[in-house]
Amino acid sequence: MSARPPTSSAAQGPAGDASNEKQPVREAPKLNPLQILGQLFDTNPNWIATESLEGCPFAHSSNGTLYIADAPTVKQWMPQEWQLGTVTNWPNTIGRLLGAEALAVTRDAQKHGVLREVLQLMLQDGQVERMLPGIQATVERYMAEWAKKGRVTFYDEALTMVFDVLINQAMQLNWSDDDIKKYAGIFETWNQGFTVVAGPLPWSRFNGGMRARKELIARLRQSLNDSALTPGSMPAKLRDAYGADSDVCTDNLIMVVFAGFETTCSLVTGLLWHLSRNSDALQKLRAEQGQVAPVGAALTLASLGAMRYTQGAMGEVLRLSQIVSGVPRQATKALDLPRVPAIPSGCPLSVSWGGMSLQDPAVKGEEKVFRPERWMEPANAASLADY
Ligand code: HEM
Repeated sequence: MSARPPTSSAAQGPAGDASNEKQPVREAPKLNPLQILGQLFDTNPNWIATESLEGCPFAHSSNGTLYIADAPTVKQWMPQEWQLGTVTNWPNTIGRLLGAEALAVTRDAQKHGVLREVLQLMLQDGQVERMLPGIQATVERYMAEWAKKGRVTFYDEALTMVFDVLINQAMQLNWSDDDIKKYAGIFETWNQGFTVVAGPLPWSRFNGGMRARKELIARLRQSLNDSALTPGSMPAKLRDAYGADSDVCTDNLIMVVFAGFETTCSLVTGLLWHLSRNSDALQKLRAEQGQVAPVGAALTLASLGAMRYTQGAMGEVLRLSQIVSGVPRQATKALDLPRVPAIPSGCPLSVSWGGMSLQDPAVKGEEKVFRPERWMEPANAASLADY
């Protein structure tokens, strides 16, 4: 069994209390066979929050993982996690699909820091401002196509649109429409490879994902070796630092598409799903869009910032449908964080965003209710930013 912290004998402070006192750790019950199947097939993505933590700030799972749903601990530990002694601990299947050199896989603090600087370039305000006209034109083009078709399966369409934005706007790779359509499908096959267990059969989802990875690498390498690669773009910076044929480049370009692809599609699809069931919210969101971004007007960072109701609606989707349920880590040395019992070296741990959100006073008594207005209340602004 993995190293684990001791269970505290009694509650020494209410959950959500921001003091530096040690908090209770729940001993989570063993999963029953149905729950294990549910976990394998992802039917209950928020099970850690609901079954293991059950409202507690910390829980041990039966396999020794410490789940953390305590906002003060997360805020203190995560910004300095490398210095404090925790490293990434994603399942082996994710590590193999992404590749050993990917930012999310490396356990080398220095490598992570350097890659983070290169990848985060794309997320800076100036870069987002640069991308906005292209993103707006891309979305308008796809919407015109959908309008012509009359009826579309949104999630599938969104995958191609978001892939287009990531490849051609964020990474500036200038792929043709045909390549975007072809490789968006291949990327989704890669994405579906994320299973808890690799599965030995050649047609298992994981092995299909690994075959898709080879195709993606070949196409990305073609771009990295293209003399027309946009100077100053994120892929060009990786190429200049590591060489066009380096695994660091391809693993991290795949990493960026992975980071932005299904996450964004799930958020947008979830938003439309909730709005389709909440006509009042849909009307308010439309009214805001009409004021802040009337049809024909160019989007700017300022207009995005003024979409307060829309941001609240997105916060509700991220809260109600956790897209990334947690971030798995492992302690590389004994940790002594103020509110947790001592964590031994080797202990696996994971933040549970779902568990954290269930403890947020902003949603108390309304945990399952979609109500973007809650985030317009000044008292709740800070926790909206957390979502
Ligand atoms: C709703 C959409 C999104 C969600 C829910 C989301 C969630 C997350 C989470 C939970 C992590 C932390 C992973 C970890 O530390 O193990 C992360 C990291 C990251 N995300 Fe996102 N993300 C989203 C969209 C995006 C987009 C659109 C991009 C870029 C185009 C992006 C780029 C990144 C990068 C580069 C990292 C790694 C940061 C680092 O380790 O330093 N994400 N994301």
